[in-house]
Parts: sequence; C-alpha cells; structure tokens
Amino acid sequence: MNIVLLGPPGCGKGTQARRIEENHGLKQLSTGDMLRAAVEAGSEIGTQLAEIMNEGQLVPDDIIIGMISERISGPDCAQGFILDGFPRTLVQAEALDAMLEQKGLALRSVISLTVDDDAMVERISGRFTCAACGAGYHDSFKPPRNPGRCDDCGDRTFSRRDDDNAETVRHRLTAYHDMTAPILPYYEGRGILRPVDGMAAIDSVTAEINALVRAA
Ligand code: AP5
Repeated sequence: MNIVLLGPPGCGKGTQARRIEENHGLKQLSTGDMLRAAVEAGSEIGTQLAEIMNEGQLVPDDIIIGMISERISGPDCAQGFILDGFPRTLVQAEALDAMLEQKGLALRSVISLTVDDDAMVERISGRFTCAACGAGYHDSFKPPRNPGRCDDCGDRTFSRRDDDNAETVRHRLTAYHDMTAPILPYYEGRGILRPVDGMAAIDSVTAEINALVRAA
C-alpha cells in the first residue's frame, strides 16, 4: 500500500509518518530528511540546497523527482511506502503518477493534515529531534518523558533545524499555499483525498490515520 501525507510545515507529517511506519510496516520516505542528509554530506549541491531550504523556498522539481524515483524502487519499500513531504507541486504530483504507473504501483490514499497557520509557528519553533535516532519532540507538546533523554534510544544529544525560525516558517507557509495546496483538488477529483484534523492531539490524529490506513 502506498500513501501520501500532505500538509503545511509543522502539521505533523513527520510525527505521523513515523507512527504509520511503525504501525503498518510502510516505509517512511521524507524528502525533507533526504535533502538534509544531502546538505550534511557537504557536497557543492548540498550547499545550494541549504540556501534554498533556509530561505523557505522549494527545491527544484527535477532534483526531488530524481530522488524519489530512485528511492521507491528500494527493497525496503516492497511492502509499500508513505511519502512525507512529496509531492509538493503539480509537476511533482504528475511525475509521481508517471513513475508509479511505470513500476506497476498505485496510490491508495492521500491523507491531508489540516491546521491553522498561526499555530504552526509555535509548533515549529518548539521542535527538536534526537540526534542519534531522529525521534521528534516539542518543548511544550511532546517533551521527552525523562528530561534530556530520548524516550526511544536513551541518547542525550538533541538538535534543532536551521530552517525552524519564525521568518523562514512564514516563507515555508507561503510556499505551501502557493505551490502545494493547489494539488489537493488533483487528488480530490480522483476520490482518494482524506482530510484529517491536524489540530487534534497527536494520539487522536494517529487514531484517525490508523483507521484510514486500515480501511484503504
Ligand atoms: P520538510 O522537512 O518536509 O519540512 P516541512 O514540510 O516544512 O514540514 P516539517 O518537517 O517542518 O513539519 P511536519 O509536518 O513534518 O511536522 P512535525 O511532525 O515535525 O521540508 C523542509 C524543506 O525541504 C522545505 O521547506 C523545502 O525547501 C524542501 N523540500 C522538502 N520536500 C520538498 C519537495 N517535495 N519539493 C521541493 N522542496 C522540498 O511536527 C512539528 C512539531 O509539532 C513537532 O515538534 C511535533 O512534536 C509537534 N506536533 C506534531 N503534531 C502535533 C499535534 N497534533 N499537536 C501538537 N503538536 C504537534
């Protein structure tokens, strides 16, 4: 089963995609994580990507499409995958359809997390992750059970993203509304769009998504 998780920055795509991976055995494919890995690798292209991401702009379609096309053929995607942060433009949505068709695959469901923009700045500025295993936390909404220690792996090192500041978040929200929200009707017209209230508590959002995945 292959699923897309859509929504503005901070709506909970990463949080929920990790839970879907755990609960349903689908591989989480986050284009944001892939891009950050490329930046971390320190290549010339990585430096250019970092500039684009830190301005809150979208990375060019051809780079992203190439990354995903390669990734969905991996053996770890054999049971299916959940796309977290892709597609983000109509060009990417059409390219996804073409690559799925070529590989004999299909999209079962597009889960769209709906949220209030104003709340996203607070969510994103309080976010941090475990530097060792990538588990996500929030200063107010999801602190580690034992302060300073990761719930999942016990590590004590945490990191915050360079693009998680109020100004960049506003640019990221604008990019979402200008470039990504227009693809919702594309999926609605095909009868596979499933809106979920992303303002609900994290566990309630997960429960709703679990029900949708089981029914898909
Ligand atoms: P990406 O990494 O995908 O960032 P994003 O879409 O801006 O989304 P975030 O990761 O910020 O948020 P999220 O929705 O995953 O929320 P999270 O679960 O962390 O992309 C980064 C950049 O890469 C883009 O700006 C762009 O430049 C580039 N890029 C990526 N993909 C691209 C593409 N396809 N095309 C072109 N460019 C691309 O939750 C946020 C916080 O809120 C966490 O602390 C969490 O604990 C908390 N939280 C989550 N859910 C709830 C809840 N229900 N209630 C309360 N708190 C919650």
